[in-house]
Parts: sequence; C-alpha cells; structure tokens
Amino acid sequence: MATQAAATSEIAAVGVIGAGQMGSGIAQLAAAAGCGVLLLDSDPAALSRAVASISSSLGRLVAKGQISQAACDDSIKRIKCVSDVQELQGVDLVIEAIVESEDVKKKLFVELDRITKPSAILASNTSSISITRLASATSRPSQVIGMHFFNPPPIMKLLEIIRGADTAEEVFSAVKCFSERIGKTVICSQDYPGFIVNRILMPMINEAFWALYTGVATKEDIDTGMKLGTNHPMGPLQLADFIGLDVCLSVLRVLHNGLGDNKYSPCPLLVQYVDAGRLGKKRGQGVYSYGRGVYSYGG
Ligand code: 3HC
Repeated sequence: MATQAAATSEIAAVGVIGAGQMGSGIAQLAAAAGCGVLLLDSDPAALSRAVASISSSLGRLVAKGQISQAACDDSIKRIKCVSDVQELQGVDLVIEAIVESEDVKKKLFVELDRITKPSAILASNTSSISITRLASATSRPSQVIGMHFFNPPPIMKLLEIIRGADTAEEVFSAVKCFSERIGKTVICSQDYPGFIVNRILMPMINEAFWALYTGVATKEDIDTGMKLGTNHPMGPLQLADFIGLDVCLSVLRVLHNGLGDNKYSPCPLLVQYVDAGRLGKKRGQGVYSYGRGVYSYGG
C-alpha cells in the first residue's frame, strides 16, 4: 500500500499522548535521543507529575555518571507540555499512551488522522488492543503501528513493534530505526492478542492469582518462589501490582475474547481486587499494601 510516511531520519518531532508513567518515560527517551517532544495531556496535574518524574529519572542517570548535567538539562528543555491535541499537527511521529480502551483509542486515532500532517506515523503503546482495528479508524492504515514499551520505559531494554495488517514496510523500518535510536532492542510481533510478551506474561500472572486463590501458598511464597526459583526481578503478584491489576485484567480479557481459550479466563480473585479498587501500587493497595512509598508485605 502506498504511504506518505516520513523516513526515519526525518523523525525529529514526536508527540506523546498521555502523561502517565508510560507516556512520561517515552517522552524522556525521545527527548534524550534529541527529538523535540510535545507531551500532551488534558490534566495539568498529570503533566506536572510527568515533568517531576522525568527530572528525577534523568537526575538518577546524572548521579550515576551515565549522562552529563547539560544533557539532562537539554533533554528537559526539549519537552514541551501541551493540553490541546491541535498542537500535534507538525509532528513526525505520535505515540499514544492513554487509557487501555479500544473505543477511546479509536476516537483519538480518528482525531489524530484529521489533525496531523499526511506523512505522520501514528503509533500506539497498547498492551494488547488490535493495531489493525485502530488503523482501520484512520484514512492512513499503512502508517499506523504498535510500539509497546515496558514499564519503566527508561530502564526496560525491550520494545515490541507490532505490524497491523496494512502497516507499510517503510513505516516499520522507520519505527525500528527510531526505536534503536532511543536505545531499545526491538522484537517484532504480528497483530494477535497480547502480541508476544503479554501473551506469555499474563497467563503466568493469572496462574499466580489462581495459586493464591486456591490456597496453594501465601503471596509472599508465590513471589519468592518465582523470584528465586526462576531469577525474575519481581514475583508475579508484585509485578501485577506494579503494572496495575486493572491493566492485567484488561489484557487477560483481550486474550480470552480474542483467543477463545478458557486458560486465559481471569482468576476471580483478580477480578474481585479490581472491583474493590485495589489496582496495585498506583492506588497504594493491590495484592500488597504500599504505605508512604515503602513496599510492604502486609495487607
Ligand atoms: N529512571 C531511571 N532509572 C531508574 C528508574 C527510572 N524511572 N527506575 C529505576 N531506575 C534505576 C535505579 O536507579 C536503579 O539503578 P542502579 O541499579 O544503577 O542503582 C535500577 O534502576 C534499579 O532500581 P531500584 O533499585 O529502584 O529498584 P529495583 O532494583 O527493585 O528495580 C525495577 C526496579 C527496574 C522496576 C525491577 O524491579 C524490574 O525490572 N522489575 C520488573 C519490571 C518489569 O517486568 N516490567 C515489565 C512489566 S510488563 C509491561 O510493562 C507491559 C505492559 O503492557 C503490561
């Protein structure tokens, strides 16, 4: 399919939508790679938190001698916070990192298609929603692609790139080069539910909930078992809290609906925690309790 997408060397201006943990991390990476970044969020408080988190994250790199103070300052200067989507009309690449809802994302893609220049590439950081379906909401499906980052984006080395059914080869190449430019190792997935990593990770997390739910072991022993027994940096229940239990549940539902196998059916305990608002670390309560920033095994 013909495409008007910008070549990788032309990706100089990047729009990042959503100033949460993922969006702020992505903005930081793009700015550190020399791009001008427009970080968009309708919530001014989210933008303030994002700027503070980017400053602190870059500050850690300065403290460790990995970047200079000047490079840190330059990166921060390259990020402009905006609240109106119209401001993205001149960017070469948009990376959307908003709420994990297909309807909300589709509406955004329709708007981006209308507002951005014809050569702009539209990427989604979705954890599991079909890129093909997001692309079909636009008039430029060949320029829509998945860029799935991992939390925390400045630390995690992986970037999963997802081709939609119509993603053009030159768009894939441009995004792959850009991803390498921001320091990531790229893997490529076809557009099937959960892509590669969540297809494998979420059933493991779900199984950990089943083990807890059916009384196989305590949460601490399940996590310690997987940390020390398989050398994971976090146990699966702690990781679920870190990702957000609502996000885990939403990905499992996409896997269950899309692949139609009961093995993906979310554990009732996970559903109950989400229903109760125990969404994980971001809410101070998930499988574990988190008080004043201190990780606690209580609760
Ligand atoms: N910016 C800069 N540096 C950071 C940082 C940030 N945002 N967050 C952590 N770091 C650095 C710290 O400075 C520290 O550096 P050092 O070792 O040189 O001193 C290092 O990272 C480790 O951090 P901490 O000491 O604070 O804490 P931990 O050792 O517990 O590591 C962790 C934290 C990196 C998050 C580690 O626990 C980990 O890798 N956990 C697993 C994370 C994971 O699996 N993420 C993927 C989730 S799945 C996903 O995102 C997909 C989605 O679709 C669901």
